Amino acid sequence: MKITAIVCGRPDQIGEKLARTALKAARDEGAGIELINLMKLNIKPCINCGTCVRVMRDPDFKGTCPLKDDDMAWLDEQMLSSDGLIFVAPMYEATAAGTYRIMCDRIGPSHDVTFMRMTYEARIAAGLDPKIDTRWLRSRAAGIIAHGGSEWSYLGFPTTASPCVSMGMTINDYYQVEWNQDVPGNPEKLARAEQLGRNIAREAGKHPEDRLYHGPEGSCPVCHCNVIRADETGGTAACALCGAVGIPVIREDGKIILQMTEEEKKRSHLYESGRLQHAQDLKHNQIVRQGLDQEAIRKAFEPLKKEIPLSLPDRQG
Ligand SMILES: Cc1cc2nc3c(=O)[nH]c(=O)nc-3n(C[C@H](O)[C@H](O)[C@H](O)COP(=O)(O)O)c2cc1C
Repeated sequence: MKITAIVCGRPDQIGEKLARTALKAARDEGAGIELINLMKLNIKPCINCGTCVRVMRDPDFKGTCPLKDDDMAWLDEQMLSSDGLIFVAPMYEATAAGTYRIMCDRIGPSHDVTFMRMTYEARIAAGLDPKIDTRWLRSRAAGIIAHGGSEWSYLGFPTTASPCVSMGMTINDYYQVEWNQDVPGNPEKLARAEQLGRNIAREAGKHPEDRLYHGPEGSCPVCHCNVIRADETGGTAACALCGAVGIPVIREDGKIILQMTEEEKKRSHLYESGRLQHAQDLKHNQIVRQGLDQEAIRKAFEPLKKEIPLSLPDRQG
């Protein structure tokens, strides 16, 4: 069994220290371990060309991601060879740092386990080469550490844990570290990171349906996210990570939670059922787009494009 921590931060600073502490505990549980710092990799930003989605949805499409000569394929292999992942993101401007989010975008649709499964099955049924590494179809255990130099970390959970949704991982622990400068000399904070490492090593060895969550109770009963979007209709709110919708209620102990039925929980994108629904919604949207007259749209917007050109810096040489 292998647990890999993916960090994004300065060399040997808080994120790496939290990750090494968690990984050492995972190793004490018998896991093989690996530490990766995104700041040391070259991961190019997604350009939204749509190739990865077509590869997964169209059994005949032969394109590949045009972003070459970077370290994404290497990072994929490290994730594929892991049973559990610990994502460690520093907070920049109240969300996971931009370098970390670049990786999330690259994981995004291209690693959607539901798309992959659908296409895998369609290709097998058609007698074609499935062209999908079946190791992606396994559900890995995930631990999330969102840390920052102050309490300004409100979007920490959803912006750090988003790879878990498309990759179909189980979220088994979450540690939000505010005012993190004292981490190296704070036994309680280090012990919590250790605990997270132990938890992920133990849960990674179980069947996904038997895995437990060990972090603090969030507002979402499905993914345990503590951020909700309160602008849904009918007095409901949505989980900012997995999209499950429920009624926000203040419990007797004062905690705000999203109350939802078992049926509503199934719409969470953390579950195969919710991702399937999302895939169908995307398909519908694709049909709407295909019905539009792209040439007429281009012509209609041409004068405005000429009237308001892009500004660019002068580049010498
Ligand atoms: C551009 C920038 C923005 C930051 N914004 C926040 C923030 O919104 N909230 C916070 O808690 N810390 C913020 N910080 C502090 C970092 O989260 C903190 O320095 C963290 O320890 C960096 O991770 P590292 O020690 O692993 O490099 C910010 C740091 C930088 C450089």
